[in-house]
Amino acid sequence: MSATATLSHVYPIGSRVNERGRLEIGGCDAVELAREFGTPVYVVAEDDIRARARSFMEAIAARHADFDVLFASKAFPCTAVYGLLAEEGLACDVASGGELFLALRGGFDPARIYFHGNAKSESELTGALAAGVGHIVIDSLHELDVLERVAADRNRRQEVLIRVTPGVAGDTHHAISTGQTDSKFGFAPVDAREAIARLRRAPHLDLVGLHFHIGSQLLELEPFRAAVRTLAELGDFPVYNVGGGLGVAYAAAEKPPAIGDYVEAVVSTVHAELGTEKRLLLEPGRALVANSTVTLYTVQTVKRNVSTWVAVDGGMSDNLRPMLYGSKYEALVADRASAAPNERCRLAGKHCESGDVIVRDAWLADPAPGDVVATPVTGAYGYSMANNYNGVPRPPVIFCREGDARVVVRRETYEDLTARDIG
Ligand code: LLP
Repeated sequence: MSATATLSHVYPIGSRVNERGRLEIGGCDAVELAREFGTPVYVVAEDDIRARARSFMEAIAARHADFDVLFASKAFPCTAVYGLLAEEGLACDVASGGELFLALRGGFDPARIYFHGNAKSESELTGALAAGVGHIVIDSLHELDVLERVAADRNRRQEVLIRVTPGVAGDTHHAISTGQTDSKFGFAPVDAREAIARLRRAPHLDLVGLHFHIGSQLLELEPFRAAVRTLAELGDFPVYNVGGGLGVAYAAAEKPPAIGDYVEAVVSTVHAELGTEKRLLLEPGRALVANSTVTLYTVQTVKRNVSTWVAVDGGMSDNLRPMLYGSKYEALVADRASAAPNERCRLAGKHCESGDVIVRDAWLADPAPGDVVATPVTGAYGYSMANNYNGVPRPPVIFCREGDARVVVRRETYEDLTARDIG
């Protein structure tokens, strides 16, 4: 096949098969990236993240006056990504003291940070107040009492939102569904009324609005509309945060709603139920960053028994999603990106358990040891859930743009693996 071969739409914007028949991301040849930076490696097309951030900003700006788009930073919490999205004008959602630290290091204005979490500790709340975090999203009555005390001790007034669990379950994996009635997150509507009443009496807390997040990787828009309707029953507030959750395509056949359609569904429901004057906050994570990134691996062995087992130098230490949620990914031999795939393979990792399979049904072109294999759509929850199982150092993050590649997170070293050992 010629160099005109096209890649499926799940690859980062601007990816292509180059004149050498190889995968190219952000203008950089994937095989050369693998040689230069080693594998496994997260390769990020910087322009892809920027384009999706702009799509969110433009889609909402076209429909609604008073808004912010928050980067749900758990999806890709490295300082370079925080920095890039701060530069694009987004605000930020953090879910722990650690994410708050990273967001500040990444350059976010604390006033534009929203602090979430179902089990925030007193020291996290104290740290958030000390940092000047703009809003804390209260998740329980206990947290409300602790926060009132912490704010009183510092003689501060703190703006807060309440997280409501609207009793809406989206169609997604149960582990990432959060809007259903029986949940560890937020307040059921009846309990939210109690929290609202208590907050009205809390001298140091200023309730400005409500929040929900019903789940992640949602491919239907109706649950978002239903959740907005539930909030409308809880009174009238200046601020509404409708969470994240918009799904992305992991495989070529998947067609998630476009960012514009999602924003239209949310905004039109907010206008109908709550009016046009509210401050509206969107909180996407996955839809901002997932498709920006491709993980590159090097094939170590190919075993042909009942199946063809193509084993690479990473696995569940750099992408836990197939193991945790049964998530499906595509794979491609980057060296021969335009060659027709001719063998059904199990793309396996290097870890010491049989469940360490990255792609169960990967169609590959003549896979052989030494080949560079790419798995797209690893920008969300790959880096953030990476771990050191089997003492495997975590991969670097490389930003690519117009043919230039730069390391924004270096590869972990064996020395790093002992960095916290003191005995
Ligand atoms: N807001 C809140 C309060 C959240 O808890 C989350 C994600 C988001 C926004 C962003 O959701 P997104 O737009 O990314 O769907 N590790 C799982 C995903 C867990 C999502 C947790 N909360 C995965 O790899 O699929």
